[in-house]
Amino acid sequence: METTLTERRISPARTLLGSLQLPGDKSISHRYGMLAAYADGSSSFTNFSTGADCASTLSCMEALGATVTRDKDGSVEVVGRGGHFDAPTFALDCGNSGSTMRMASGLVAGQDGEYTLIGDPSLSRRPMERIRKPLTAMGARIALTDGHAPIHIEGGNLKGIDYTTTIPSAQVKTSLLFAGLKAKGSTTVRESLRTRDHGELALKAFGAKIERTANSVTLAEGAELHAINAAIPGDISSAAFFLCAAALFPDSSLVLNKLGLNPTRATLLDILTTLGARVNVLDLEEKHGELSGTVHVSAPKEGLGTVDICGSLSPQLIDEIPVLAAIAPYTHGGIRIRDARELRVKESDRIALTVQNLRAMGAEVTEHEDGMDIPGNQKLHGATIDPAGDHRIAMAFAIAALKAEGDTNILGAEAASISFPEFWQILDSITER
Ligand code: S3P
Repeated sequence: METTLTERRISPARTLLGSLQLPGDKSISHRYGMLAAYADGSSSFTNFSTGADCASTLSCMEALGATVTRDKDGSVEVVGRGGHFDAPTFALDCGNSGSTMRMASGLVAGQDGEYTLIGDPSLSRRPMERIRKPLTAMGARIALTDGHAPIHIEGGNLKGIDYTTTIPSAQVKTSLLFAGLKAKGSTTVRESLRTRDHGELALKAFGAKIERTANSVTLAEGAELHAINAAIPGDISSAAFFLCAAALFPDSSLVLNKLGLNPTRATLLDILTTLGARVNVLDLEEKHGELSGTVHVSAPKEGLGTVDICGSLSPQLIDEIPVLAAIAPYTHGGIRIRDARELRVKESDRIALTVQNLRAMGAEVTEHEDGMDIPGNQKLHGATIDPAGDHRIAMAFAIAALKAEGDTNILGAEAASISFPEFWQILDSITER
């Protein structure tokens, strides 16, 4: 999505109070949507992600021949294809969604026929060689345009692979496992830094045989997938904006019900605890391998401390780093971020944009190739923020604005709808001024 001129003015807040249930997790919604389209039978999901990214996934699945019905209440029904897709005569439009493009590439690589995947200008700049190389090694014929989309795939006749990822990416891991559904022999993906495991959990839920070790996952040959029903837990990466905001203000109290708490995604709660926030988790439940529960966060009286995000923490927090960076100046000890080079190839260069916008608000920050150093005890002032069409940057700086002096204007605020269309309205409803 490109920048437009829709602005949001954010005034300083006194505190945050509320109890909410958020729309369904984006990563899980993508995977359930794709596997339901592949499986046989009719799958039903409640609380499916409301973001434009998951809508891109569903429309690609329709283009491949699945029947998708969406209700206004967030439920989605997908009638699957029993393992065989129709190759459409037109391109699969993945919009702004890297997850759709990378994972759907794996899904169609195993199918006979030719497929073209396209995206918006931001997605068309993102690296796709990371899936081309292993999918080609499995036997797919794939052409990129200078390492990027459009992607042209001639699918079918795949063989399994034993592949060690060179960058930590759950999208790449899932793409290869999805391709493995149609491959001869088993497919193993090894990773040195563990990434979110929704792909392997979803495959198992739909009936695939999955074996896991601490750093590998193997899909057995010949999986037949069958429809499932699921209630999708709230998206913790969307919740992150409000959780970080609640951790900033004395007398805050925020309760998030039925929030996704998959251990490969919930590292933010450990970080908030390390910073000194009070975090309580209640009513844990598990369905299809995915944990969810009620999370209560409030701020410490003495303010937030300090934390170092590096090593294996960085891939686990990759989507939450922009908002952690946005609250870092208000902590006492600051936040140091390293090993997060991947942020440079997200919907935008999230390191450069975070640094630029923090400076626009008057913060001192040192940029590193793979992260940034943000000292604490800083006072920020309101500013005009240009998120360059990046949803997470728009939302992160709305949170920084809550504790700044004076008003902040967020340009292109509608970018939030890529993952979280309800963001601005919920932010208003929980902010006390
Ligand atoms: C995702 C994986 C991450 C993350 C993205 C969603 C997923 O991307 O940033 O928002 O659902 O697998 P990478 O796989 O590129 O790290």
